[in-house]
Amino acid sequence: MHRRLFLKGLVSIGIASSMAAPKIAMAGGMLDPMTSKLAGSLFYTMEAPGRWAGKESGHVPMIERSGNMIEVTTGHEMDGYTHYIVKHILLDEHLEFVAETMFDPETDAPISTYDISGMNNALYMVSLCNKHDAWLNRRAL
Ligand SMILES: [Fe+2]
Repeated sequence: MHRRLFLKGLVSIGIASSMAAPKIAMAGGMLDPMTSKLAGSLFYTMEAPGRWAGKESGHVPMIERSGNMIEVTTGHEMDGYTHYIVKHILLDEHLEFVAETMFDPETDAPISTYDISGMNNALYMVSLCNKHDAWLNRRAL
């Protein structure tokens, strides 16, 4: 695919408004990823499971807060390298990367903890399954 056509495609689905700022944005501010048309196609949520309907409870990362810490759990089996949660990714309210935790499917449970001191308004968490793609959840702060 030609670069120009690829970039035009990204702009048309709201991923890139320019080469310099490839963020999910639209005129007037941020597009809410949880309700965008990307939910259910590029990634999945509890409300938009797309082609993975029925797999929500085992893939959406659940976020519990205690003070300045959060514990994130994905209710998914860890079946060795056959089927497992690869990682959790913490994003800030602007969808900027903050931290991630990689999991060893032979020894780890898909549980991670993060210090959210300094984060404001909201956070996003991604849980990545090796078979069922990326699942997004949001928590207001
Ligand atoms: Fe899965």
